[in-house]
Amino acid sequence: MSQPDARLYAPAAQRNRGPILDVLREELPAAGLVLEIASGTGEHATHFAQNLPALTFQPSDPDARARASVSAWIAATRLDNIRLPLELDARRPWPIARADALICINMIHISPWEATESLFATAATLLPEGAPLVTYGPYKRDGAHTAPSNVEFDASLRATNPDWGVRDLEAVAACAAKNGFSAPRIVEMPANNLTLVFRLPSPRGRAK
Ligand SMILES: C[S@@+](CC[C@H](N)C(=O)[O-])C[C@H]1O[C@@H](n2cnc3c(N)ncnc32)[C@H](O)[C@@H]1O
Repeated sequence: MSQPDARLYAPAAQRNRGPILDVLREELPAAGLVLEIASGTGEHATHFAQNLPALTFQPSDPDARARASVSAWIAATRLDNIRLPLELDARRPWPIARADALICINMIHISPWEATESLFATAATLLPEGAPLVTYGPYKRDGAHTAPSNVEFDASLRATNPDWGVRDLEAVAACAAKNGFSAPRIVEMPANNLTLVFRLPSPRGRAK
């Protein structure tokens, strides 16, 4: 069906936004600014903004069509706790200096590894102590895929772009640790995905 506006629809986002929201309710601060990297259609950011009204969401994406979709979702939902999307490529300097939390859904496997390295390196400079960085997607564990569907997905990603692919959880965690983040809280999600919650240490060394 053709849409009268620039909104894009991702069936997976419609399916996973509820389970991801459940984790965000546990992990995000009570108030403040949540920066989303790789917002895609904007369905996640608008859904989270709708359901977490005390937080302000800042979506972003390097892709102009994605940003147009995010803006259209914001216009359609008439939310006042979400900002217009930033043009942000994780590998380049970020046009934002601080945030209270960061979320990144389904980017790590659909971008070159340098994007993940920059994600953690830059997040460490703009998040305050104790703040969460939440990622979501498929991961290998101890070098092995967790489901046959992820084997096929990994092959299709690498066939599309040899720099893409399902990453090792341990490699992502090592990259996070190199930049001062905690070992992740690992939450099993539907369809063989994981939500990972990394945190910068808080002043008193508490997890949250
Ligand atoms: C599979 S889509 C996921 C979109 C959305 N988060 C979701 O789960 O529906 C991958 C997104 O990553 C973005 N992306 C790719 N490379 C990126 C990079 N280097 N920095 C930031 N975003 C990137 C793409 O533009 C795209 O919107």
